[in-house]
Amino acid sequence: MCGIVGYIGHQKASHLLVNGLKRMEYRGYDSAGISFLENGKINILKQKGKVENLDRLVPHDLINTTIGIAHTRWATHGFPNDVNAHPHTDNTGNISVVHNGIIENYTAIRTKLKQDGYSFFTDTDTEVLAVFIGAFYEKVNNLEEAVRMALSEVDGTYGIAVLSSYEPDKIIAARMGSPMVLGIGENEYIIASDAAAIIAHTNKVIYLDDGEMVIVTREGFITKTVLNEETKRQIEAIEFDIQQIEKSGFDHFMLKEIYEQPETVKNAFRGRLLIEKGNVKLGGLNSVIEKLRTAKRIIIIACGTSWHAALVAEYMIEQLAHIPVEVEYASEFRYRNPVIGPEDVVFAISQSGETADTLAAVKEAKQKGATVLGFVNVVGSSIARETEAGTYLHAGPEIGVASTKAFTSQLTVMALVALMLGRMRTLSQLDGKRIALEISELPEKITKVFDQLKQIKEIVDEYAHAKNFLYLGRGFNFPLALEGALKLKEISYIHAEGYPAAEMKHGPIALIDENMPVVFIATQDEIYDKVLSNIEEVKARKGKIIAIANEGDERIKLVANHVIYIPNTLPMLNPILAVVPLQLMAYFMALKLGCNVDQPRNLAKSVTVE
Ligand code: M6R
Repeated sequence: MCGIVGYIGHQKASHLLVNGLKRMEYRGYDSAGISFLENGKINILKQKGKVENLDRLVPHDLINTTIGIAHTRWATHGFPNDVNAHPHTDNTGNISVVHNGIIENYTAIRTKLKQDGYSFFTDTDTEVLAVFIGAFYEKVNNLEEAVRMALSEVDGTYGIAVLSSYEPDKIIAARMGSPMVLGIGENEYIIASDAAAIIAHTNKVIYLDDGEMVIVTREGFITKTVLNEETKRQIEAIEFDIQQIEKSGFDHFMLKEIYEQPETVKNAFRGRLLIEKGNVKLGGLNSVIEKLRTAKRIIIIACGTSWHAALVAEYMIEQLAHIPVEVEYASEFRYRNPVIGPEDVVFAISQSGETADTLAAVKEAKQKGATVLGFVNVVGSSIARETEAGTYLHAGPEIGVASTKAFTSQLTVMALVALMLGRMRTLSQLDGKRIALEISELPEKITKVFDQLKQIKEIVDEYAHAKNFLYLGRGFNFPLALEGALKLKEISYIHAEGYPAAEMKHGPIALIDENMPVVFIATQDEIYDKVLSNIEEVKARKGKIIAIANEGDERIKLVANHVIYIPNTLPMLNPILAVVPLQLMAYFMALKLGCNVDQPRNLAKSVTVE
């Protein structure tokens, strides 16, 4: 979604700001803009479309300023056009604001400001905030006070940066429900909504808390709450390096991230698996271990791909630990007054740790007294900080909008949690050891899946004309059917649906004819034979069958048009291997159809609005 970067220091700001925006392009956006101070005046350049366009628009050679703010916008209020692009200014043009999030009471504020004689030229809630700050400035003649007073009256979420010609050597940033990070360099400061825009300059950062603001000058910075109480913040280190957010020779981030999975899965269990004891050590959960031991029920909240990981986790935990698990869309959970209480343990799964619905669901669960744990990739993110305890995924930065390596890391961490919970209850050491050993072999087995590239590309060539795809699986593979379909539709724009294979005959079977490719995840488990019967049902109606099957499965060849083989593992771990060909199929399909793989239309990497 939207991205913010601001700079104050000794370097020329315009290049630095535009390059910062480029680092955040992966988040998804539709316009970009920059505001800088030169000769005591605020200048703004902004444009619909890519940062590249903005880069061409900015006369870098003519700009000598060392202070500015910049933004990439993902439209919420008003069309994605030049006028609605950020930065926005107050009515005098002396205060410019960039903003992520949504000001929910902007209509009421705008009406009041209009009555007071202020004018509006855009459809955005951000312009309302800028004019609001300007109105307060007229009264108090102090930028920090004006920002504070405006923020005290807005409802909703914001990450903002403010630049003003009234106080030219200052940037003010603040956050409420939308991340904001201060990077601390040598006599320079970079503020950004994403550490990716900072890492090229420094790895020393302060993550602002909700309701906190930072006032940055050339001499230093102070942090305080919007209520004007000074805060003491610890400087932290960004956990990744610049290489991890570069393509490193791959054509796309998505492909790079698919190929990173042997390593990222290893990172998810590294130092956590106790193979000999058939157990797991998850330091981040130590403080809640008794809660977990006695939990009567686990509720998992998540969105999108993370929700699919939660569905697999449900099967894993129920099978190994016999604890009832319920999986909920965070967006539904947050508004339906869920029946939960102090005996419940809630897991929040999220790659970004910033998904607005998941964050709100976490707060709702906490409000009701549940123990809420976070399983998050981005270190220091809002969900990581809002939850009582948790476990990081350690997948490294995921840049491709389509989630790939985060998913397999989520599954790996969930397998560890299920094993740990199982060992606390009925699972024997021997069974635990067998599972731990299988987990430890996953990286090598994922590497073997890459040997199937030729077959995957052949399938893509044959079905690139298809308008629809069906993905079917049962048991652990049912959530995988959903994930395979989501991957295909989000990056290739081909309509795809995932179903539990047996549900097909209750409706979707009507769609099947010789033009319908049907992907079956048909790995070896107790219901393999039932899946074969479902395949026969599709075959009888001339559907084209693409099967993901385990090595050595000869029966599948007799019924499927195409088979992609993956190594054998335990049924509960099959999704970690079987998703890889589904990711690759979606990737090569999108490539063949000329789609923008890393930044698919309309999508944002982290969905920080409702
Ligand atoms: O950052 P999160 O894991 O909370 O994000 C959840 C979804 O927005 C995300 O998984 C989305 O569905 C991806 N585009 C899937 O590829």
